[in-house]
Formats: sequence, C-alpha cells, structure tokens
Amino acid sequence: MNLDQLKQLVGEAARDEVLKLPAGQVLGVGTGSTANCFIDALAAHKGHFSGVVSSSNATTERLLKHGFRVLDPNAVGVLPAYVDGADEIDPAGYMIKGGGGALTREKIIASMAKQFICICDASKQVPVLGGFSLPVEIIPISKGIVAQELAKLGGTVSLRMAKATHTDLGQNLGQPFVTDNGGWILDIAGLQIKNPPALESQINQMAGVITVGLFAKEKADILLVSNASGVSRISFQ
Ligand code: 5RP
Repeated sequence: MNLDQLKQLVGEAARDEVLKLPAGQVLGVGTGSTANCFIDALAAHKGHFSGVVSSSNATTERLLKHGFRVLDPNAVGVLPAYVDGADEIDPAGYMIKGGGGALTREKIIASMAKQFICICDASKQVPVLGGFSLPVEIIPISKGIVAQELAKLGGTVSLRMAKATHTDLGQNLGQPFVTDNGGWILDIAGLQIKNPPALESQINQMAGVITVGLFAKEKADILLVSNASGVSRISFQ
C-alpha cells in the first residue's frame, strides 16, 4: 500500500468514527493531505452534521466544493470532535503540527472540541517529538528577537519560505511563507522534545509568538493510524 492509499484508508476510518456521533452537531475539520482524504470520504454523509468549522482557507475551499455548511467558529459552541492529521505524534498523544502552516487555526478549533481525533499513517508515530522541525507562527516584526530566543532551545531556527508548491495558494516564491493570519513561520530543527507541555508553555510566553505547533494542551484523545495491515484505534483518555 502506498502513502496515498494509507491516508485514504485512515480518512475512511475517521468518517466511520465521526458517523457514530449523534446527528445534527457541528464538527471541526483539520488541514493537510490526510484531512483532505477525510473530507472527501465524509462528503457523501455531510447531512449527518448541521455544519462544520474549518481550520484553514484551503480546508474551507475544499469543504465548500463538497457542499458542506461551513460555519464561523464564533457562531458555534462546543464541538463534539475535531479531526486532523499530524506531522508527528508520540506515545502520550502529544503532537507536532503546522507542516502545512495552519497551526494557529488548528489549535483554536481543537480547543473548541471535546475530543481531538488524530488521523495519520504509522510513519508519523515517534518515541520522542522533534525529528520533524517544530513550527512557530510569529508576528513578522518579531522575527529577529523570537529567532534569537528559540535558538537558545538548542535547535537550528529558520524562516519558512514559500516554495513552488505554495504558489497556487497565493504565496510568492522566494518570499517568506505567509499564514492565513498574516503571520510568518520559524521552524526549529534538531530538538528532542522530552517534555512537550513545558516547552509549549515556554514558547507561548515569548513576545511575538502567535502559536507554537506543539499540541500538548490540545493533545490527541484518539489516534486512528493506518499501516499495511489496516487501521488501529488508540485511545489516550
Ligand atoms: C497542517 C498540519 C497537518 O495536519 C500536518 O502537516 C499533517 O499533514 P499531512 O496530513 O499532509 O501529512 O498540521 O498545518
């Protein structure tokens, strides 16, 4: 099975998982290629939910194309669940997210949900977070000072630049990658994150930081993970 098939498989498993929720509620929807598989799988059953809230402009566009009712997060209350992928997930359900740059809205929607259902293929499971560079969304004028502070954590800090693959999302090649919120992203490579809750708090305190892509407070409650033999369900609750 190739990576695309593994993502499709777990997207379908997530569809089955959320269809067990009572009908008529609002669902939170994540961002990325795995979340896209979930959206595509859920499209035929969209009437089960009264609406959805989206974690990025890209996800909103895809949801609208499928005819989902996309609601303003300010107009809804507690969500029964938020479904999203991850760049890495550890044995406690702590995650690195933001490889696609949507970390801030993802964390906001996750914080509105009773449960975070993480969906990924088994390559995302790691014993210790940090192999994937940790994204930090910042206010652009704070780049100098925040980069200096982040470097003290021991990793190598770099400003995320727009690549050719980002140009169809309205990004300018060779310029800093700009988030849906107008922020920039600093990526920290080479960390070994032994205490995710402590590091999340520490980075959150830095002036100029909008969001760190470490999901410790908003960790996964359930993990659906696919490999060649199928999908496993792990509960962290
Ligand atoms: C986007 C994210 C994604 O959830 C994460 O990057 C995983 O993406 P993919 O499913 O494409 O591997 O955090 O900001």
